[in-house]
Amino acid sequence: MKQRSFVMLKPDAVKRRLAGEVLGRFENRGLKILAAKLLVITPELAKEHYGEHSERPFFKDLVEYITSGPVLATVIEGEECISLIRKMVGATNPQEADLGTIRGDYAIDTGRNIIHASDSETSAAREIALFFEDSEIYDYSMPDEEMIY
Ligand code: PPS
Repeated sequence: MKQRSFVMLKPDAVKRRLAGEVLGRFENRGLKILAAKLLVITPELAKEHYGEHSERPFFKDLVEYITSGPVLATVIEGEECISLIRKMVGATNPQEADLGTIRGDYAIDTGRNIIHASDSETSAAREIALFFEDSEIYDYSMPDEEMIY
């Protein structure tokens, strides 16, 4: 089943010039980038995006961090890609993330863990709608699609 995920490279990824490297992993796996934009998130958008964590002790730090510089917000599509991308991202705490995952290879601290990826279809739909207009999401075919699937 084809799915879309909201994937956001956080300010540490952009500032450390890891954006191309990380997006390249998804492209190399055969996933398709349907939308991408660099933006500085407002505190309002950050609070809405992370609303379900508003009572957590780290919420203030999370909002401060995610608004501290540009993020690269993307929509990525592929078969069953929501769980696949979460596997490629690795555990929330990079110290626990397996080597070979994005966090396991590039991050050390939970507060600076490089990337966000939707955890379910419901979250993906909500997050994509928060960050993108329909007109900013492009559907196109990949010439090598039948080699990948
Ligand atoms: S999970 O698996 O997404 O539910 O992880 P969870 O531990 O509940 O964390 C929710 C999001 O908060 C981020 N987080 C933190 N940010 C800053 N500082 C601290 N200490 C911290 N702990 C957790 C975590 O990365 C999750 O954000 P995303 O963007 O989904 O990774």
